[in-house]
Amino acid sequence: MNKNPNKNIDNSDIKIGLQAIAFKEFLDNRHTVIISDENLFRLYPEVFEDFDKIILPSGEDTKSLKTIEFIISEFVKLNLDRNSFIIGFGGGVICDITGFVASIFMRGLSFGFVPSTLLAQIDAAIGGKNGVNFGNHKNYIGCFNNPEFVICDPILLNTLSDQEYKSGLGEVLKYALITNKNELFTYLNKNTELILNKNQKILNFIIKKCVQIKSDIVAKDPFDKGFRQILNFGHSFAHCVEKIENIPHGIAVVYGMKIALKIAFNEGFLNSECQNEILSFFAKFGFDKEIILRDEHFEILKGDKKKNSDSIKLVIIRDIGKPDFYELPIDDIKDLLK
Ligand SMILES: NC(=O)c1ccc[n+]([C@@H]2O[C@H](COP(=O)([O-])OP(=O)(O)OC[C@H]3O[C@@H](n4cnc5c(N)ncnc54)[C@H](O)[C@@H]3O)[C@@H](O)[C@H]2O)c1
Repeated sequence: MNKNPNKNIDNSDIKIGLQAIAFKEFLDNRHTVIISDENLFRLYPEVFEDFDKIILPSGEDTKSLKTIEFIISEFVKLNLDRNSFIIGFGGGVICDITGFVASIFMRGLSFGFVPSTLLAQIDAAIGGKNGVNFGNHKNYIGCFNNPEFVICDPILLNTLSDQEYKSGLGEVLKYALITNKNELFTYLNKNTELILNKNQKILNFIIKKCVQIKSDIVAKDPFDKGFRQILNFGHSFAHCVEKIENIPHGIAVVYGMKIALKIAFNEGFLNSECQNEILSFFAKFGFDKEIILRDEHFEILKGDKKKNSDSIKLVIIRDIGKPDFYELPIDDIKDLLK
């Protein structure tokens, strides 16, 4: 259960100083350890004052079992017990690691998230999925478990690089396409310039909306057995593109959505008018390129955990707000994209 996932999202809530520190009010004198990365530690030293901390290298490579082992050895040195509390302060990598290690240490400690990237605020910190990678296999080891709280402070996004901000926007655009056009798509189209300039009021609205969209979907299918998989729109292709091109997750998701759109169009599920409307929408946010999948992408695609034998269950859309599933053999995907 998220105690208060929307906390600090309204402009009226923003007071002097960093709202991320508001987590202190939830700690109840528990022995608390903050897990974070080197960038956050450098940029926001005030968040760490008075706390034990574990500072990890930033980046996807940190999401490994080796890191989990390292954190557990630090937990032991810090004498944590079952009443201790763990905070993950960082992007999706830190949230995924924190949720996982807190869930398995001593059969589970309580934890909270202070996500610091747009992607983590609207996606990674919401929905209860935690875990690490296993070699090339993304998110192969993990668990479902929810934090006690999630605090999203849009002010943190001011220090985010353009590339990482764009990555978060990629996931925002995904929500806009899998939900009713009036929910988000129209709003994003109308406010593009303000969004690109990180306008706080607009970001407040967007974060709140995306948290609500994801929470509603997850509530219908908390353990990812069916319906929730519409959130994977673009993701089967994103994972291989992210790995081979070495680009942030959300940017790869947009490339993945473009490939899924092409398949939907070539298979007659999506008309050209809607496809063009979506492609112009992407372009407005700077996503104007596409990627042609190569053999090396297909090799990783074959290892995708969403595949069923030699087929893959793709999320396609038939129109804005009308996601659907389409299972097809991986070899056919090659032909369809020629
Ligand atoms: N659990 C889930 O449901 C879920 C959903 C989506 C994505 N994810 C995972 O999230 C990860 C990607 O997360 P991400 O995009 O946040 O990347 P990330 O966690 O790697 O962060 C990106 C970079 O931004 C830096 N950074 C973070 N906050 C900052 C700030 N406020 N100012 C300046 N720099 C900052 C980090 O140090 C890092 O270098 C992937 O591993 C993905 O699998 C998980």
